[in-house]
Amino acid sequence: MRDGGKRFLGKGVLNAVQNVNGIIAPELIGMEVSEQQKIDKKMIALDGTGNKSNLGANAMVAVSMAAMKAAACEKKKQVYQHLGGNILPVPMMNILNGGKHAGNSLAIQEFMIIPKWPRSFRNAMEMASETYHVLGKRLEKKYGAGARNVGDEGGFAPNLKDCACALEEIISAVEEAGYGNEIGIGLDAAASSFYDAKSGKYFIDGRRLDSGALMDYYAEIVPKYRIISVEDPFHEEDFGSFAAMTAKLGAKVQIVGDDLLVTNPERLGVAVKRKAVNALLLKLNQIGTVSESMKVAEMCRKNNIRVVVSHRSGESEDSFIADFAVGIGAGQIKAGAPARGERTAKYNQLLRIEEDRHAVMARVF
Ligand code: PGA
Ligand code: ZN
Repeated sequence: MRDGGKRFLGKGVLNAVQNVNGIIAPELIGMEVSEQQKIDKKMIALDGTGNKSNLGANAMVAVSMAAMKAAACEKKKQVYQHLGGNILPVPMMNILNGGKHAGNSLAIQEFMIIPKWPRSFRNAMEMASETYHVLGKRLEKKYGAGARNVGDEGGFAPNLKDCACALEEIISAVEEAGYGNEIGIGLDAAASSFYDAKSGKYFIDGRRLDSGALMDYYAEIVPKYRIISVEDPFHEEDFGSFAAMTAKLGAKVQIVGDDLLVTNPERLGVAVKRKAVNALLLKLNQIGTVSESMKVAEMCRKNNIRVVVSHRSGESEDSFIADFAVGIGAGQIKAGAPARGERTAKYNQLLRIEEDRHAVMARVF
C-alpha cells in the first residue's frame, strides 16, 4: 500500500503506518504475542479483502513479523530458535542481473550460482563471493568498466548479446574460481516480463518463440550450462507449460513457481493437482502474514514440493527471512548477490546462526 500523490513520488507509506497504529494496534493490544495465528487471523478479518488491499500487505506483514520477533524475545530466543528449526539453507545467489532488474537487454531476470554441497554456510559464502568477484573482473576486462555495474539484486548487469553469453561467462568464472561442478546454476526467467499476450510469443535474444520453442531452448541450455533450477520458465498463468516442463525436465531440474504461485495456497493447490512445479518460491510479503507463509510451506512439505524462501528485488535491511528459512527448515534461500547491505544482511544473519553451532547445512542437491 503506497500513498500516491506527490510525496516520495507516490511511494510513501504513511497510510499503511496509520493503519498499523490506528486500526490494527488497538485490536491487538492485550493479545499474547505467542498467539501468531490468532494475531494474523485477527488482521485478516479486520482487513476483510481477499488480497489485503484494505489495510495493506506491507502493514500486515510488518505487524505479523514484529509479533513473532516479540514472541522470540520474550523467551530470550532468536526467531529461528523460537520456530524450532536448525537447518541452514543452501543459498541461491544472483550474480548476473537482466530483465526488469537491470538496464541491459538480457531477457532472463536472474542468473544464480548455487553451491550444491558446501561444508558449511561459511564455506558456501566463500565459494560464492570468490566466484562473484572473479566474474566481475572477467567482465570488466572483456567488456569495459561499465560491465561491472550492478542491477537491483547486486549482480552484475553487463550488456551481453544473449543469455547463452551470460551463462558462458558465469561458467568460466566458476571454473576460474576453482569450483567446477561444486557450483550449479539457477535461472529466474520471470518469463511474464518477456511474454507478449497478444501474439502468445516470448521475446528472447532477438527471437520470438512460442511456448514449445521456449521449452526446447530450456531443454538445450539446462545440461549445457549445469543448470539445476529454473524459476518461472513460462508466463504466470500458463500452468500447462509448467506441467509439461516439470514432466520433461523435473527429475533433473528444480522447477520453481514464483509469479505462477505468488505464495498463495489456492494457486499452490492448482499447481499440485496439475504437477506444474516441484518447488515454490516463498515471499512473506507476497502473501502478507507469517502464519499463512507457514501454511504454504507445510502444504509444500506434504506434497513433496521444495521451498525456497526469498527476498524481493526491492528490499530492506531486515533479516527476518534468514531466521525464517532456518526455522521452518526450508532448505534453500534466495537473497541476491553476496554484495550490497540489504542482501548481505540476510547472509550475515545466517553466518551468525551457524556460529550458534546448533544449525546444520541442508542437503538439497
Ligand atoms: P521481485 O522479483 O521482488 O522484483 O518481484 C524477485 C523474483 O522474481 O524472484
Ligand atoms: Zn522470481
